Amino acid sequence: MAATNIHPEFHRFLERKDKERLLDQQGAVLWLYGLSGSGKSTIANLAERALSQEGRFTTILDGDNLRSGLNRNLGFSDDDRAENIRRNAEVARLFAEQGIITFVSVITPRRDLRALARGIIGEDFREVFVKAGYATCAERDPKGLYARAEAGQIEQFTGRDSEFEEPGDEAELVLDTDTHGAEECARILLDHLSGPSGS
Ligand code: ADX
Repeated sequence: MAATNIHPEFHRFLERKDKERLLDQQGAVLWLYGLSGSGKSTIANLAERALSQEGRFTTILDGDNLRSGLNRNLGFSDDDRAENIRRNAEVARLFAEQGIITFVSVITPRRDLRALARGIIGEDFREVFVKAGYATCAERDPKGLYARAEAGQIEQFTGRDSEFEEPGDEAELVLDTDTHGAEECARILLDHLSGPSGS
């Protein structure tokens, strides 16, 4: 049951602009989504390190990491994925409000889930599709999950037993890791961010 008698209080606290002035940057949420093994975390890692070298303050919210803590009670049913995304989006919003450049690396397999995250995060939300075919990801199989899924050992596996819905026009950037290396994708992402609508 939802709590009642809640009195959110923001006006007394230091404001976002105070944090952003301190950090000399603007908070943002770079929501990288795509199949497991598509390269989300690798690209986020490379992009974060490059930004850090430029003196930017960043963080990465990674699906597997969050599922080992905050989201450890969630599985991969439709409802649990929605709750997973809701929590991750709320956390990303909190970080962005502190002026932090926040990479999110979660499968986010459906358009309604991306819309949910966008609704929570608002104008800080930057939608980045990390595109790679199922066959490519199954070939890479960095965690051995595709082999296990093919052997029937993982239920509701994304792209196999559980749908992955590609975006339409709503993705502001598509990083195709079938055809581009991770370093190149990270560079494309950073160039995009520092472009006219970015920085
Ligand atoms: S999401 O669909 O709810 O956005 P999330 O990104 O948090 O997924 O978690 C995906 C990670 O959980 C994968 O990278 C993989 O390591 C692991 N995993 C375990 N079971 C599954 C499954 N059935 N489908 C997809 N990923 C799974």
